[in-house]
Amino acid sequence: MSAPQKPVLAGNWKMKHGPSEAARFFAGFLALHPPRETGSVVFFPPAISFAAAREALQGRPDVRLGVQNVHWEAGGAFTGETSAPMAADAGAALVLVGHSERRWVFGETVAETVDKVRAVLRAGLVPVLCVGERLDERRAGRAEAVVAAQLQPVLEAVPLAAARSLVVAYEPVWAIGTGVVATPDDAGAMHRFVRSRLEAAYGGETAAAIPILYGGSVKPDNARELLTEPGVDGVLVGGASLDPAGFAAICAAV
Ligand code: PGA
Repeated sequence: MSAPQKPVLAGNWKMKHGPSEAARFFAGFLALHPPRETGSVVFFPPAISFAAAREALQGRPDVRLGVQNVHWEAGGAFTGETSAPMAADAGAALVLVGHSERRWVFGETVAETVDKVRAVLRAGLVPVLCVGERLDERRAGRAEAVVAAQLQPVLEAVPLAAARSLVVAYEPVWAIGTGVVATPDDAGAMHRFVRSRLEAAYGGETAAAIPILYGGSVKPDNARELLTEPGVDGVLVGGASLDPAGFAAICAAV
């Protein structure tokens, strides 16, 4: 499956909105967000709400669904986990990999993110690889080095033929859920850096086709400024994607 069309407007619900709340959300959101010709809207509900979300989206193929995490194996004795083929079977198109909460709260390693990206691609889905530095790393002038260390092993594992299925999300850890948003300049600079790594791995044409999203305290009142920054191909929104009117306003910002 190839990466979604830019601009990509993605909502990550994290561990919020159970099945009933998911149905209520879409009743509100779909009324406010008619189908559009350009761009893509994607939601990452919790796995337990996925079926309710899919049901609510009957008749709206313009809104796609993804899952927030998968295991790298296709199946087995891994209590509590879901696999990429199962996500595909359930109707997911995309999978978040290496979200900062997976890395920093659950201790997910770079090697695991590489295995997960491989598993997602094998299942025919689009991995959204999340990368981003912590505040101490930025202050120490190591932001690019940290992002490169998260990105490079994945690029080495993904061959050119599969590269157009990739999405990258730059999410500085210090901006996630904090209300502190990166300036468009800072976001733009890191997006250029990520693009340069993609160019080195795959060449300019393929690198230009890979969407690079910004995430971290995106809200209706700052979305337009971020989305019009050159090189920012979309947004990955946590808190502000939980409210139908708020997320519809973010989608309307482009
Ligand atoms: P936030 O989360 O928008 O609530 O900062 C973003 C994310 O974690 O993807």
